[in-house]
Amino acid sequence: MRLEEAKRDQFRRRAKEEGYRSRAAYKLLQINDKYKIIRAGDKVVDIGCAPGGWLQISSKLVGERGLVVGVDIDSVKSLGRKNGKLIRDDITFDGFSERLRDSMGKGKADCVLADLSPKLSGIWDMDHFKQIELCHRVVDLLPDILTPDGSNIMKAFHGAELSALVKRLKGSFSRVEISKPEASRSGSSEVYLVSMGFSGQVPSRQSESLEEEHPSELPADSGESDWQTDRLN
Ligand SMILES: C[S@@+](CC[C@H](N)C(=O)[O-])C[C@H]1O[C@@H](n2cnc3c(N)ncnc32)[C@H](O)[C@@H]1O
Repeated sequence: MRLEEAKRDQFRRRAKEEGYRSRAAYKLLQINDKYKIIRAGDKVVDIGCAPGGWLQISSKLVGERGLVVGVDIDSVKSLGRKNGKLIRDDITFDGFSERLRDSMGKGKADCVLADLSPKLSGIWDMDHFKQIELCHRVVDLLPDILTPDGSNIMKAFHGAELSALVKRLKGSFSRVEISKPEASRSGSSEVYLVSMGFSGQVPSRQSESLEEEHPSELPADSGESDWQTDRLN
């Protein structure tokens, strides 16, 4: 546990020193280093973007020719860069998809990021369920906002509902990997689902089987989320 705390402190300290708004920034950096998903000139949608660590990373990666559209229920301080747009909205509200599309301009995104976390109650089953519901909401949005062959990076809380989400992603993308970047504490219950090669369509939730698929691929559940300690303040 001491090692885990030291690691968390190390990334928190680095984030302060390097001017990142959250230590979560390193999770995206490490995932992108491994999978090379976000590239110069890309259009990226960052869902659940506050306080903005992932926004900072993706804005740098896409550069001046790219665009990053950030969405959160909370207000987010502008990055002050021309390649960024922010919308304050709840992804579960009616009409959200249309409002998001309006702010994206012409063309769909090359990559959709979702580092969503609901307000945590501390009752693990409930928090897990709510978080996975948010993930499904993002999957529902993909045909409207993600270009065919595009990619998705999504945080998911470990638990009983995770395998059905993974299965749904596998029905939508040619490649789905479960990733645990070094900046995410190994004791935390979050994993990152990295999906590449979007088919343009997603299976409906009704067509999913609730049977466990590849349970051994998933790390053990500690019942604690990294998000509780993610923000710098
Ligand atoms: C872990 S934080 C994101 C951290 C961010 N990736 C970063 O690097 O700074 C999760 C975010 O999800 C947002 N969120 C939760 N439910 C949401 C919803 N229904 N609609 C929009 N944002 C939501 C929360 O407000 C919170 O800011």
